[in-house]
Amino acid sequence: MELFDQIDLSRVPEHVAIIMDGNGRWAKSQGRERIFGHFNGVEAVRASLKAATRSGVRYLTLYAFSTENWNRPKEEVDALMNLLVQTIVGEVDDLDRNEVRLHAIGDLENLPDACRSELFGAMERTRDNERVNLILALNYSARWEMTHAVKEIVASGIPASRITGQVISDHLSTRSFPDPELLIRTSGEMRISNFLLWQIAYAELYFTDILWPDFNEQEFFKALIDFQGRERRFGKTSEQITPRTGLNVIRRRKTGT
Ligand code: FPP
Repeated sequence: MELFDQIDLSRVPEHVAIIMDGNGRWAKSQGRERIFGHFNGVEAVRASLKAATRSGVRYLTLYAFSTENWNRPKEEVDALMNLLVQTIVGEVDDLDRNEVRLHAIGDLENLPDACRSELFGAMERTRDNERVNLILALNYSARWEMTHAVKEIVASGIPASRITGQVISDHLSTRSFPDPELLIRTSGEMRISNFLLWQIAYAELYFTDILWPDFNEQEFFKALIDFQGRERRFGKTSEQITPRTGLNVIRRRKTGT
């Protein structure tokens, strides 16, 4: 049986986030420069988006460039930025045709001008698309995001007594998206690396040894199948969860719908 056929399409996570890792090691294993790995990583981005769309995932967030990535050698940073711009330019027609809406989270003001203008152009161009949301985390880190949120909350004059978890969520750059239910990290590293720290409070974590350029549709489906095998309890006991529909019952209670 195909992996895709093993997915229960009525229970796919609404939001999947991915830490794409291992491009450098993949390139090294081929005796090539690190940027060769990033170039090949673009194919894995396409495959993941296709797999997400096929299985009905509505939001896909990709950690494309962290605030810490500026510390890499200048030529790698420049090459990555060029690759991001080129990819956005090259893919925007296809994204639009497939009804993908592009978003970006992170410190976008401090991205190079060329990157910003292509990014904002592509976001504007795809803003009416509703089939799937592709969210690029660019110049992003969760601590940057939370610091930014605290500054905004203080500046807006909200009194301490009125600050709730919801107020904090509403000031994060992910305020328009549901929290990820599944977080994938490739390349065997078992870290979160400053990614969506607030939003993954209840996410299932999935780690695979596959290096990012080798990640493909089948690997994405494997992660969904693994996710569907987990018991999601949100602090409750097993007995409180109805065995077959537990996931949905709990989700409905949590959101109050
Ligand atoms: C991590 O591998 C990967 C990155 C920091 C960049 C990811 C970028 C892409 C896949 C390019 C295109 C992306 C989009 C969204 C258009 P690493 O360099 O840390 O690998 P290593 O751990 O093996 O050194």
